[in-house]
Amino acid sequence: MRTALYPLCIFVVLATSIFSCKQLPQKNNNLNNSRFTGVLADSAMVVSAHPLASKAGVEILKKGGSAIDAAIAVQFALTVVYPRAGNIGGGGFMLIRESDGQFNSLDFREKAPLTSERDMYLDKKGEVVPRLSLDGHLAVGVPGVVSGMVEAHKKYGKLDWATLLEPAIVLAAKGHMVSEKEVDYMNEHYENFAKFSTETNYFAHPKGNWIAGDTLKQTDLANTLKRIQKEGRDGFYKGKTAQYFLEEMQRGGGIITQKDLDTYQAVWRKPLVGKYKDDYQIICMAPPSSGGIAILQMCEMMEQFPINEWGFQSPKTTHVMIESERRAYADRATHLGDTDFFPVPIEGLLDEAYLAQRAKGINLDKASPSKEVREGKVKGAIKTKSSSMPKESDQTTHFSIVDKWGNAVAQTTTLNSNYGSKVFVGKAGFLLNNEMDDFSAKPGVYNQFGLLGNEANAIEPEKRMLSSMSPTIVEKNGELMMVLGTPGGATIITSVFQNILNVIEFGMSMQESVNAPRFHHQWFPDTVYIEEKALGPETIENLQEMGHRFQIRGSLIERKSIGKVDAILVRPDGKLEGAADIRGEDTALGW
Ligand code: GLY
Repeated sequence: MRTALYPLCIFVVLATSIFSCKQLPQKNNNLNNSRFTGVLADSAMVVSAHPLASKAGVEILKKGGSAIDAAIAVQFALTVVYPRAGNIGGGGFMLIRESDGQFNSLDFREKAPLTSERDMYLDKKGEVVPRLSLDGHLAVGVPGVVSGMVEAHKKYGKLDWATLLEPAIVLAAKGHMVSEKEVDYMNEHYENFAKFSTETNYFAHPKGNWIAGDTLKQTDLANTLKRIQKEGRDGFYKGKTAQYFLEEMQRGGGIITQKDLDTYQAVWRKPLVGKYKDDYQIICMAPPSSGGIAILQMCEMMEQFPINEWGFQSPKTTHVMIESERRAYADRATHLGDTDFFPVPIEGLLDEAYLAQRAKGINLDKASPSKEVREGKVKGAIKTKSSSMPKESDQTTHFSIVDKWGNAVAQTTTLNSNYGSKVFVGKAGFLLNNEMDDFSAKPGVYNQFGLLGNEANAIEPEKRMLSSMSPTIVEKNGELMMVLGTPGGATIITSVFQNILNVIEFGMSMQESVNAPRFHHQWFPDTVYIEEKALGPETIENLQEMGHRFQIRGSLIERKSIGKVDAILVRPDGKLEGAADIRGEDTALGW
Protein backbone atom coordinates (compact mmCIF):
# COMPACT_ATOMS: atom_id res chain seq x y z
CA MET A 1 0.00 0.00 0.00
CA ARG A 2 1.34 3.40 -0.93
CA THR A 3 -0.07 6.59 0.36
CA ALA A 4 0.78 10.25 0.32
CA LEU A 5 -0.44 10.59 3.91
CA TYR A 6 2.78 9.46 5.52
CA PRO A 7 4.77 12.69 5.38
CA LEU A 8 1.75 14.49 6.87
CA CYS A 9 1.48 11.95 9.73
CA ILE A 10 5.16 12.28 10.55
CA PHE A 11 4.87 16.04 10.41
CA VAL A 12 2.00 16.03 12.90
CA VAL A 13 3.74 13.62 15.26
CA LEU A 14 6.98 15.53 15.20
CA ALA A 15 5.56 19.02 15.09
CA THR A 16 5.71 19.64 18.81
CA SER A 17 9.35 18.77 19.04
CA ILE A 18 10.48 20.38 15.81
CA PHE A 19 8.61 23.67 15.73
CA SER A 20 10.60 25.37 18.38
CA CYS A 21 13.92 23.87 17.42
CA LYS A 22 15.01 25.53 14.22
CA GLN A 23 17.38 28.06 15.68
CA LEU A 24 20.92 27.16 16.54
CA PRO A 25 22.47 28.53 19.68
CA GLN A 26 24.66 31.59 19.55
CA LYS A 27 28.37 30.98 19.76
CA ASN A 28 28.77 32.80 23.02
CA ASN A 29 27.98 32.31 26.63
CA ASN A 30 24.78 34.33 26.66
CA LEU A 31 22.19 32.02 25.23
CA ASN A 32 19.17 33.46 26.96
CA ASN A 33 18.10 35.55 23.98
CA SER A 34 17.59 32.45 21.86
CA ARG A 35 16.06 30.11 24.42
CA PHE A 36 13.86 27.35 23.19
CA THR A 37 12.86 24.07 24.71
CA GLY A 38 11.99 20.57 23.67
CA VAL A 39 8.81 18.80 24.73
CA LEU A 40 7.83 19.60 28.33
CA ALA A 41 5.97 17.21 30.61
CA ASP A 42 5.11 16.91 34.28
CA SER A 43 5.15 13.14 34.81
CA ALA A 44 7.05 11.01 32.35
CA MET A 45 8.98 11.15 29.07
CA VAL A 46 10.20 8.85 26.31
CA VAL A 47 12.64 10.07 23.64
CA SER A 48 13.62 7.62 20.90
CA ALA A 49 14.63 7.44 17.24
CA HIS A 50 11.13 6.67 15.97
CA PRO A 51 7.70 8.14 16.79
CA LEU A 52 6.07 4.69 16.95
CA ALA A 53 8.71 3.38 19.36
CA SER A 54 8.26 6.43 21.62
CA LYS A 55 4.51 5.82 21.45
CA ALA A 56 5.02 2.18 22.51
CA GLY A 57 7.03 3.36 25.51
CA VAL A 58 4.38 5.88 26.53
CA GLU A 59 1.65 3.22 26.17
CA ILE A 60 3.50 1.02 28.67
CA LEU A 61 4.15 3.89 31.08
CA LYS A 62 0.46 4.84 30.98
CA LYS A 63 -0.47 1.25 31.86
CA GLY A 64 1.56 1.64 35.07
CA GLY A 65 4.84 0.28 33.76
CA SER A 66 8.19 1.50 35.03
CA ALA A 67 10.92 3.15 32.95
CA ILE A 68 12.50 -0.31 32.67
CA ASP A 69 9.24 -1.83 31.39
CA ALA A 70 8.96 1.00 28.87
CA ALA A 71 12.58 0.48 27.79
CA ILE A 72 11.85 -3.19 27.05
CA ALA A 73 8.81 -2.23 24.99
CA VAL A 74 10.75 0.47 23.10
CA GLN A 75 13.61 -1.95 22.39
CA PHE A 76 11.22 -4.49 20.81
CA ALA A 77 9.27 -1.78 18.97
CA LEU A 78 12.50 -0.41 17.45
CA THR A 79 13.25 -3.91 16.14
CA VAL A 80 10.12 -3.52 14.03
CA VAL A 81 10.06 0.16 13.04
CA TYR A 82 13.79 0.99 13.05
CA PRO A 83 15.34 -2.18 11.62
CA ARG A 84 18.61 -0.53 10.63
CA ALA A 85 19.67 -0.31 14.29
CA GLY A 86 16.84 -1.35 16.64
CA ASN A 87 17.10 -5.09 16.94
CA ILE A 88 16.80 -8.48 18.54
CA GLY A 89 19.81 -9.68 16.52
CA GLY A 90 22.33 -7.39 18.23
CA GLY A 91 23.25 -6.06 21.65
CA GLY A 92 23.54 -3.00 23.85
CA PHE A 93 23.68 -1.44 27.29
CA MET A 94 20.95 -0.36 29.72
CA LEU A 95 21.84 2.18 32.41
CA ILE A 96 19.35 2.59 35.24
CA ARG A 97 18.89 5.16 37.99
CA GLU A 98 16.10 4.24 40.38
CA SER A 99 14.04 6.99 41.98
CA ASP A 100 15.82 6.37 45.30
CA GLY A 101 19.17 7.16 43.69
CA GLN A 102 20.47 3.59 43.21
CA PHE A 103 22.28 2.80 39.97
CA ASN A 104 22.66 -0.33 37.94
CA SER A 105 23.66 -1.25 34.42
CA LEU A 106 23.03 -4.22 32.20
CA ASP A 107 25.51 -5.40 29.62
CA PHE A 108 23.83 -7.31 26.80
CA ARG A 109 26.68 -6.72 24.35
CA GLU A 110 27.30 -9.49 21.80
CA LYS A 111 30.05 -12.05 22.38
CA ALA A 112 32.54 -13.66 20.02
CA PRO A 113 31.40 -17.19 19.07
CA LEU A 114 33.02 -20.12 20.90
CA THR A 115 34.97 -21.14 17.82
CA SER A 116 36.14 -17.64 16.90
CA GLU A 117 39.89 -17.07 16.59
CA ARG A 118 42.20 -14.10 17.02
CA ASP A 119 43.25 -14.14 13.35
CA MET A 120 39.97 -15.19 11.77
CA TYR A 121 39.81 -12.09 9.53
CA LEU A 122 43.37 -12.39 8.20
CA ASP A 123 44.45 -14.08 4.99
CA LYS A 124 47.37 -16.50 4.65
CA LYS A 125 49.77 -13.57 4.40
CA GLY A 126 48.43 -12.14 7.65
CA GLU A 127 46.61 -9.28 5.94
CA VAL A 128 43.08 -8.25 6.92
CA VAL A 129 40.58 -9.58 4.36
CA PRO A 130 38.56 -6.48 3.44
CA ARG A 131 34.99 -6.47 4.79
CA LEU A 132 35.09 -10.05 6.14
CA SER A 133 34.31 -8.78 9.65
CA LEU A 134 31.63 -6.44 8.26
CA ASP A 135 29.48 -8.31 5.75
CA GLY A 136 27.84 -11.70 5.93
CA HIS A 137 27.71 -14.58 8.37
CA LEU A 138 31.26 -14.50 9.78
CA ALA A 139 30.73 -10.92 10.97
CA VAL A 140 28.01 -11.90 13.43
CA GLY A 141 28.52 -11.85 17.21
CA VAL A 142 26.23 -13.89 19.49
CA PRO A 143 23.21 -11.60 20.06
CA GLY A 144 22.39 -10.38 23.57
CA VAL A 145 19.23 -8.27 23.33
CA VAL A 146 16.64 -10.90 24.28
CA SER A 147 18.73 -12.17 27.21
CA GLY A 148 19.17 -8.53 28.30
CA MET A 149 15.48 -7.66 28.15
CA VAL A 150 14.54 -10.84 30.03
CA GLU A 151 17.07 -10.08 32.80
CA ALA A 152 15.94 -6.45 33.07
CA HIS A 153 12.34 -7.59 33.41
CA LYS A 154 13.19 -10.26 36.01
CA LYS A 155 14.86 -7.66 38.23
CA TYR A 156 12.78 -4.53 37.64
CA GLY A 157 9.59 -5.43 35.72
CA LYS A 158 6.27 -4.17 37.10
CA LEU A 159 3.99 -5.20 34.25
CA ASP A 160 3.91 -8.77 32.97
CA TRP A 161 6.35 -9.72 30.21
CA ALA A 162 3.65 -10.44 27.62
CA THR A 163 2.28 -6.90 27.87
CA LEU A 164 5.70 -5.43 27.03
CA LEU A 165 5.94 -7.36 23.76
CA GLU A 166 2.42 -6.47 22.62
CA PRO A 167 3.07 -3.09 20.95
CA ALA A 168 5.92 -4.54 18.86
CA ILE A 169 3.88 -7.58 17.84
CA VAL A 170 1.00 -5.38 16.69
CA LEU A 171 3.37 -3.13 14.70
CA ALA A 172 5.01 -6.12 13.01
CA ALA A 173 1.77 -7.97 12.27
CA LYS A 174 -0.21 -4.97 10.99
CA GLY A 175 2.72 -3.26 9.32
CA HIS A 176 3.93 0.31 9.62
CA MET A 177 4.50 3.05 7.09
CA VAL A 178 8.14 3.46 6.24
CA SER A 179 9.59 6.94 6.39
CA GLU A 180 11.59 8.82 3.80
CA LYS A 181 14.86 8.22 5.66
CA GLU A 182 14.22 4.50 6.16
CA VAL A 183 13.34 4.23 2.47
CA ASP A 184 16.66 5.83 1.50
CA TYR A 185 18.58 3.36 3.62
CA MET A 186 16.59 0.28 2.56
CA ASN A 187 16.88 1.12 -1.13
CA GLU A 188 20.59 1.81 -0.73
CA HIS A 189 21.12 -1.68 0.73
CA TYR A 190 18.87 -3.54 -1.72
CA GLU A 191 21.75 -5.42 -3.32
CA ASN A 192 23.44 -6.18 0.01
CA PHE A 193 20.26 -7.74 1.38
CA ALA A 194 20.23 -10.09 -1.61
CA LYS A 195 23.98 -10.70 -1.53
CA PHE A 196 24.46 -11.53 2.16
CA SER A 197 21.22 -13.33 3.05
CA THR A 198 20.45 -16.81 1.80
CA GLU A 199 16.68 -16.26 1.80
CA THR A 200 14.66 -13.39 0.36
CA ASN A 201 13.86 -10.83 2.98
CA TYR A 202 11.24 -8.19 3.25
CA PHE A 203 13.64 -5.27 3.59
CA ALA A 204 14.55 -5.78 -0.08
CA HIS A 205 11.50 -4.43 -1.92
CA PRO A 206 10.12 -6.96 -4.47
CA LYS A 207 10.24 -4.23 -7.11
CA GLY A 208 13.55 -2.90 -5.84
CA ASN A 209 12.28 0.49 -4.82
CA TRP A 210 10.63 1.50 -1.57
CA ILE A 211 8.68 4.76 -1.51
CA ALA A 212 7.96 6.74 1.67
CA GLY A 213 4.52 5.74 2.92
CA ASP A 214 4.77 2.12 1.78
CA THR A 215 3.67 -0.35 4.43
CA LEU A 216 6.29 -2.76 5.74
CA LYS A 217 4.51 -5.80 7.19
CA GLN A 218 6.75 -8.27 9.06
CA THR A 219 4.75 -11.44 9.67
CA ASP A 220 7.77 -13.69 10.38
CA LEU A 221 9.09 -11.16 12.89
CA ALA A 222 5.64 -10.95 14.54
CA ASN A 223 5.76 -14.75 14.97
CA THR A 224 9.27 -14.61 16.44
CA LEU A 225 8.18 -11.88 18.86
CA LYS A 226 5.16 -14.02 19.82
CA ARG A 227 7.51 -16.91 20.64
CA ILE A 228 9.61 -14.54 22.78
CA GLN A 229 6.40 -13.26 24.38
CA LYS A 230 5.32 -16.80 25.27
CA GLU A 231 8.62 -18.44 26.14
CA GLY A 232 10.87 -15.55 27.19
CA ARG A 233 14.56 -16.30 26.63
CA ASP A 234 13.80 -19.73 25.15
CA GLY A 235 11.65 -18.12 22.49
CA PHE A 236 14.86 -16.75 20.97
CA TYR A 237 17.79 -18.93 22.07
CA LYS A 238 15.97 -22.28 21.68
CA GLY A 239 13.18 -23.85 19.67
CA LYS A 240 12.02 -22.58 16.29
CA THR A 241 13.79 -19.21 16.38
CA ALA A 242 17.14 -20.83 17.23
CA GLN A 243 16.54 -23.46 14.56
CA TYR A 244 15.94 -20.80 11.86
CA PHE A 245 18.96 -18.82 13.12
CA LEU A 246 21.28 -21.84 12.99
CA GLU A 247 19.95 -22.96 9.60
CA GLU A 248 20.83 -19.50 8.26
CA MET A 249 24.30 -19.75 9.84
CA GLN A 250 24.91 -23.11 8.20
CA ARG A 251 23.64 -22.01 4.77
CA GLY A 252 25.91 -18.94 4.85
CA GLY A 253 29.06 -20.41 6.42
CA GLY A 254 28.65 -18.77 9.86
CA ILE A 255 30.16 -20.25 13.03
CA ILE A 256 27.51 -19.61 15.68
CA THR A 257 26.14 -22.86 17.13
CA GLN A 258 23.41 -23.88 19.59
CA LYS A 259 26.07 -23.95 22.32
CA ASP A 260 26.76 -20.24 21.67
CA LEU A 261 23.06 -19.46 22.04
CA ASP A 262 22.75 -21.62 25.18
CA THR A 263 25.70 -20.00 26.91
CA TYR A 264 24.97 -16.34 26.11
CA GLN A 265 24.08 -14.42 29.27
CA ALA A 266 23.55 -10.69 29.82
CA VAL A 267 25.42 -9.42 32.90
CA TRP A 268 24.71 -6.76 35.53
CA ARG A 269 27.71 -4.48 35.94
CA LYS A 270 28.45 -1.74 38.42
CA PRO A 271 28.22 1.60 36.60
CA LEU A 272 31.13 4.04 36.75
CA VAL A 273 30.42 7.15 38.78
CA GLY A 274 32.48 10.33 38.65
CA LYS A 275 32.11 13.77 40.18
CA TYR A 276 32.12 16.86 38.00
CA LYS A 277 32.93 20.02 39.98
CA ASP A 278 31.14 20.21 43.34
CA ASP A 279 27.56 19.70 42.34
CA TYR A 280 27.42 17.09 39.63
CA GLN A 281 27.77 13.34 39.44
CA ILE A 282 28.11 11.55 36.10
CA ILE A 283 26.99 7.92 35.90
CA CYS A 284 28.30 5.92 32.96
CA MET A 285 28.67 2.44 31.54
CA ALA A 286 31.77 0.45 32.54
CA PRO A 287 33.72 -1.67 29.99
CA PRO A 288 33.12 -3.26 27.57
CA SER A 289 31.87 0.26 26.90
CA SER A 290 34.84 2.53 26.34
CA GLY A 291 32.57 5.54 26.62
CA GLY A 292 32.17 5.73 30.38
CA ILE A 293 35.88 5.92 31.13
CA ALA A 294 36.56 8.37 28.29
CA ILE A 295 33.68 10.70 29.23
CA LEU A 296 34.75 10.79 32.87
CA GLN A 297 38.37 11.41 31.87
CA MET A 298 37.48 14.28 29.55
CA CYS A 299 35.14 15.91 32.09
CA GLU A 300 37.83 15.64 34.78
CA MET A 301 40.37 17.29 32.44
CA MET A 302 37.87 20.10 31.75
CA GLU A 303 37.81 20.95 35.46
CA GLN A 304 41.28 22.45 34.99
CA PHE A 305 40.03 25.15 32.57
CA PRO A 306 37.57 28.08 32.94
CA ILE A 307 35.57 27.05 29.87
CA ASN A 308 32.45 28.73 31.21
CA GLU A 309 34.32 32.08 31.02
CA TRP A 310 35.82 31.27 27.65
CA GLY A 311 32.36 30.49 26.19
CA PHE A 312 30.64 27.90 24.03
CA GLN A 313 32.74 26.82 21.04
CA SER A 314 35.16 29.70 21.53
CA PRO A 315 38.68 28.95 20.20
CA LYS A 316 40.07 28.33 23.73
CA THR A 317 37.21 26.09 24.86
CA THR A 318 37.27 24.11 21.63
CA HIS A 319 41.03 23.73 21.78
CA VAL A 320 41.08 22.23 25.28
CA MET A 321 38.12 19.99 24.48
CA ILE A 322 39.89 18.66 21.37
CA GLU A 323 43.10 18.12 23.32
CA SER A 324 41.31 16.25 26.09
CA GLU A 325 39.56 14.09 23.48
CA ARG A 326 42.94 13.33 21.88
CA ARG A 327 44.35 12.17 25.23
CA ALA A 328 41.30 10.16 26.30
CA TYR A 329 41.17 8.35 22.94
CA ALA A 330 44.89 7.49 23.16
CA ASP A 331 44.20 5.84 26.54
CA ARG A 332 41.10 4.16 25.21
CA ALA A 333 42.89 2.61 22.27
CA THR A 334 45.57 1.07 24.46
CA HIS A 335 44.08 0.20 27.82
CA LEU A 336 40.46 -0.73 27.09
CA GLY A 337 38.83 -4.07 26.38
CA ASP A 338 36.43 -6.55 27.98
CA THR A 339 37.26 -6.66 31.70
CA ASP A 340 36.28 -10.34 31.84
CA PHE A 341 39.35 -11.01 29.64
CA PHE A 342 41.74 -8.08 30.07
CA PRO A 343 42.85 -6.22 33.22
CA VAL A 344 41.60 -2.73 32.37
CA PRO A 345 43.22 -0.29 34.86
CA ILE A 346 39.96 1.55 35.55
CA GLU A 347 41.05 3.16 38.82
CA GLY A 348 44.33 4.40 37.34
CA LEU A 349 42.58 5.82 34.27
CA LEU A 350 40.13 7.77 36.44
CA ASP A 351 42.64 8.89 39.04
CA GLU A 352 42.26 12.66 39.62
CA ALA A 353 45.99 13.31 39.96
CA TYR A 354 46.68 11.40 36.74
CA LEU A 355 44.06 13.39 34.83
CA ALA A 356 45.17 16.72 36.27
CA GLN A 357 48.68 15.87 35.07
CA ARG A 358 47.32 14.88 31.67
CA ALA A 359 45.45 18.20 31.41
CA LYS A 360 48.63 20.10 32.40
CA GLY A 361 50.28 18.61 29.32
CA ILE A 362 47.90 20.58 27.11
CA ASN A 363 49.68 23.55 25.54
CA LEU A 364 47.12 26.38 25.50
CA ASP A 365 48.63 27.96 22.39
CA LYS A 366 49.31 24.97 20.21
CA ALA A 367 47.71 21.70 19.06
CA SER A 368 49.65 18.60 20.11
CA PRO A 369 50.19 16.44 17.01
CA SER A 370 48.61 13.02 17.71
CA LYS A 371 51.82 11.24 16.81
CA GLU A 372 53.43 12.94 19.80
CA VAL A 373 50.60 12.00 22.19
CA ARG A 374 50.65 8.48 23.60
CA GLU A 375 48.58 6.66 26.18
CA GLY A 376 49.33 7.80 29.72
CA LYS A 377 51.37 5.92 32.28
CA VAL A 378 48.54 4.59 34.35
CA LYS A 379 48.66 2.83 37.72
CA GLY A 380 47.64 -0.80 37.42
CA ALA A 381 48.14 -1.03 33.65
CA ILE A 382 49.85 -4.16 32.38
CA LYS A 383 52.55 -3.68 29.79
CA THR A 384 50.83 -3.46 26.44
CA LYS A 385 51.76 -1.61 23.30
CA SER A 386 50.40 1.62 21.80
CA SER A 387 47.62 0.98 19.41
CA SER A 388 45.05 2.32 16.99
CA MET A 389 41.34 1.51 16.96
CA PRO A 390 39.40 -0.06 14.12
CA LYS A 391 37.17 2.28 12.14
CA GLU A 392 33.79 2.09 13.81
CA SER A 393 30.39 2.08 12.21
CA ASP A 394 28.10 4.79 13.47
CA GLN A 395 24.66 3.32 13.03
CA THR A 396 23.29 2.58 16.44
CA THR A 397 20.32 3.93 18.34
CA HIS A 398 19.71 5.43 21.77
CA PHE A 399 16.63 6.19 23.84
CA SER A 400 16.05 7.93 27.17
CA ILE A 401 13.11 7.37 29.52
CA VAL A 402 11.92 8.83 32.83
CA ASP A 403 8.79 7.41 34.50
CA LYS A 404 6.29 9.07 36.88
CA TRP A 405 8.18 7.77 39.94
CA GLY A 406 11.45 9.33 38.74
CA ASN A 407 13.16 6.10 37.62
CA ALA A 408 15.37 6.73 34.60
CA VAL A 409 16.76 4.54 31.82
CA ALA A 410 19.40 5.43 29.24
CA GLN A 411 19.66 2.61 26.70
CA THR A 412 21.85 2.32 23.62
CA THR A 413 21.53 -0.63 21.28
CA THR A 414 23.10 -1.60 17.98
CA LEU A 415 23.57 -3.94 15.04
CA ASN A 416 26.82 -2.00 14.38
CA SER A 417 26.43 -0.99 10.70
CA ASN A 418 23.06 -0.09 9.21
CA TYR A 419 21.15 -3.41 9.08
CA GLY A 420 24.23 -5.07 10.65
CA SER A 421 25.78 -7.86 8.61
CA LYS A 422 22.79 -7.70 6.17
CA VAL A 423 22.18 -11.32 7.08
CA PHE A 424 18.45 -11.87 7.49
CA VAL A 425 17.28 -14.89 9.45
CA GLY A 426 14.88 -16.48 6.99
CA LYS A 427 11.46 -17.44 8.45
CA ALA A 428 12.33 -15.60 11.70
CA GLY A 429 12.22 -12.11 10.20
CA PHE A 430 15.15 -10.28 11.79
CA LEU A 431 18.63 -9.09 10.87
CA LEU A 432 21.92 -10.07 12.51
CA ASN A 433 24.64 -7.74 13.75
CA ASN A 434 28.16 -7.31 12.37
CA GLU A 435 29.63 -6.51 15.74
CA MET A 436 32.74 -8.68 15.24
CA ASP A 437 34.14 -5.67 13.39
CA ASP A 438 34.44 -3.83 16.72
CA PHE A 439 37.30 -6.15 17.71
CA SER A 440 40.88 -5.42 16.62
CA ALA A 441 41.25 -7.74 13.65
CA LYS A 442 45.02 -7.54 13.63
CA PRO A 443 46.49 -6.95 17.07
CA GLY A 444 50.22 -6.63 17.52
CA VAL A 445 50.92 -5.53 13.95
CA TYR A 446 51.94 -2.04 12.86
CA ASN A 447 49.42 -0.16 10.81
CA GLN A 448 49.65 2.91 8.56
CA PHE A 449 50.16 5.18 11.56
CA GLY A 450 53.11 3.14 12.77
CA LEU A 451 51.00 1.97 15.70
CA LEU A 452 50.23 -1.46 16.94
CA GLY A 453 46.78 -3.10 16.83
CA ASN A 454 45.03 -3.19 20.16
CA GLU A 455 45.87 -6.26 22.28
CA ALA A 456 43.25 -5.45 24.90
CA ASN A 457 40.54 -5.77 22.25
CA ALA A 458 41.85 -8.85 20.39
CA ILE A 459 39.33 -11.56 19.46
CA GLU A 460 38.88 -14.39 21.98
CA PRO A 461 36.01 -16.89 22.23
CA GLU A 462 33.16 -15.51 24.37
CA LYS A 463 34.83 -12.10 24.75
CA ARG A 464 32.78 -8.95 24.27
CA MET A 465 34.10 -6.49 21.68
CA LEU A 466 34.89 -2.98 22.90
CA SER A 467 32.03 -0.56 22.34
CA SER A 468 31.64 3.21 22.18
CA MET A 469 28.02 3.08 23.30
CA SER A 470 27.69 5.48 26.22
CA PRO A 471 24.29 5.68 27.87
CA THR A 472 24.79 8.34 30.54
CA ILE A 473 22.91 9.84 33.50
CA VAL A 474 23.85 13.06 35.31
CA GLU A 475 22.83 14.03 38.83
CA LYS A 476 22.89 17.51 40.33
CA ASN A 477 23.17 17.66 44.13
CA GLY A 478 22.09 14.03 44.34
CA GLU A 479 18.96 14.50 42.22
CA LEU A 480 18.31 13.22 38.70
CA MET A 481 19.29 15.91 36.18
CA MET A 482 19.98 14.49 32.72
CA VAL A 483 19.49 11.21 30.82
CA LEU A 484 21.28 11.01 27.49
CA GLY A 485 23.07 9.04 24.82
CA THR A 486 23.44 8.78 21.06
CA PRO A 487 24.43 6.60 18.11
CA GLY A 488 27.59 7.53 16.22
CA GLY A 489 30.36 4.92 16.70
CA ALA A 490 33.47 6.58 18.03
CA THR A 491 31.67 9.97 17.95
CA ILE A 492 29.18 8.79 20.60
CA ILE A 493 31.65 9.61 23.34
CA THR A 494 32.44 13.15 22.23
CA SER A 495 28.75 13.91 21.51
CA VAL A 496 27.75 12.93 25.04
CA PHE A 497 30.71 14.91 26.43
CA GLN A 498 29.66 18.05 24.52
CA ASN A 499 26.03 17.77 25.59
CA ILE A 500 26.96 17.45 29.25
CA LEU A 501 29.06 20.63 28.99
CA ASN A 502 26.46 22.46 26.87
CA VAL A 503 23.93 22.18 29.68
CA ILE A 504 26.16 22.44 32.76
CA GLU A 505 28.71 25.02 31.58
CA PHE A 506 26.89 26.99 28.89
CA GLY A 507 23.39 27.01 30.40
CA MET A 508 21.59 25.58 27.40
CA SER A 509 18.19 23.97 27.56
CA MET A 510 18.30 20.27 26.63
CA GLN A 511 16.94 20.97 23.16
CA GLU A 512 19.38 23.81 22.52
CA SER A 513 22.15 21.50 23.54
CA VAL A 514 20.99 18.63 21.31
CA ASN A 515 20.59 20.99 18.35
CA ALA A 516 23.99 22.61 18.82
CA PRO A 517 26.45 21.63 16.08
CA ARG A 518 29.15 19.17 17.13
CA PHE A 519 32.79 18.41 16.53
CA HIS A 520 34.86 15.29 17.14
CA HIS A 521 38.50 14.26 17.52
CA GLN A 522 39.63 10.70 18.23
CA TRP A 523 43.45 10.85 18.34
CA PHE A 524 43.80 9.14 14.94
CA PRO A 525 43.21 10.30 12.28
CA ASP A 526 44.62 13.59 13.54
CA THR A 527 41.63 15.57 12.24
CA VAL A 528 38.79 17.46 13.86
CA TYR A 529 35.53 16.33 12.25
CA ILE A 530 32.84 18.99 12.31
CA GLU A 531 29.21 19.34 11.42
CA GLU A 532 28.66 21.99 8.81
CA LYS A 533 27.64 24.80 11.17
CA ALA A 534 30.00 23.93 14.01
CA LEU A 535 32.52 26.44 15.36
CA GLY A 536 32.24 29.18 12.77
CA PRO A 537 34.87 30.45 10.30
CA GLU A 538 36.80 32.68 12.71
CA THR A 539 37.15 29.99 15.35
CA ILE A 540 38.23 27.47 12.72
CA GLU A 541 40.82 29.88 11.35
CA ASN A 542 42.10 30.54 14.84
CA LEU A 543 42.35 26.83 15.59
CA GLN A 544 44.02 26.12 12.26
CA GLU A 545 46.70 28.62 13.18
CA MET A 546 47.26 26.60 16.35
CA GLY A 547 47.81 23.49 14.22
CA HIS A 548 44.38 21.79 14.18
CA ARG A 549 43.12 20.26 10.94
CA PHE A 550 39.41 20.15 10.07
CA GLN A 551 37.11 18.11 7.91
CA ILE A 552 33.34 18.45 7.38
CA ARG A 553 31.66 15.06 7.57
CA GLY A 554 29.56 13.23 5.01
CA SER A 555 27.52 14.28 2.04
CA LEU A 556 23.80 13.62 2.67
CA ILE A 557 21.91 15.79 5.13
CA GLU A 558 21.42 13.28 7.95
CA ARG A 559 24.78 11.67 7.30
CA LYS A 560 26.56 14.99 7.63
CA SER A 561 25.65 14.90 11.25
CA ILE A 562 27.62 13.66 14.21
CA GLY A 563 25.36 11.54 16.40
CA LYS A 564 21.66 11.78 17.15
CA VAL A 565 21.32 12.62 20.81
CA ASP A 566 18.01 11.75 22.51
CA ALA A 567 17.95 13.21 25.98
CA ILE A 568 15.84 14.27 28.95
CA LEU A 569 16.57 17.14 31.33
CA VAL A 570 14.89 17.53 34.70
CA ARG A 571 14.54 21.31 34.87
CA PRO A 572 14.82 23.31 38.09
CA ASP A 573 11.01 23.77 38.04
CA GLY A 574 10.63 19.96 38.11
CA LYS A 575 9.37 19.65 34.53
CA LEU A 576 10.89 17.05 32.23
CA GLU A 577 12.29 18.43 29.00
CA GLY A 578 12.48 15.78 26.28
CA ALA A 579 14.91 16.67 23.50
CA ALA A 580 14.66 14.63 20.32
CA ASP A 581 17.52 15.17 17.91
CA ILE A 582 16.48 17.23 14.87
CA ARG A 583 19.03 15.30 12.79
CA GLY A 584 16.65 12.32 12.48
CA GLU A 585 13.01 11.38 12.93
CA ASP A 586 13.54 11.16 16.65
CA THR A 587 10.55 11.96 18.82
CA ALA A 588 9.98 13.07 22.39
CA LEU A 589 6.61 12.15 23.90
CA GLY A 590 5.61 12.92 27.46
CA TRP A 591 2.71 13.86 29.64
N1 GLY B 1 29.09 -0.82 17.22
C1 GLY B 1 29.04 0.44 17.78
C2 GLY B 1 29.47 0.46 19.20
O1 GLY B 1 29.33 -0.53 19.89
O2 GLY B 1 29.96 1.44 19.67
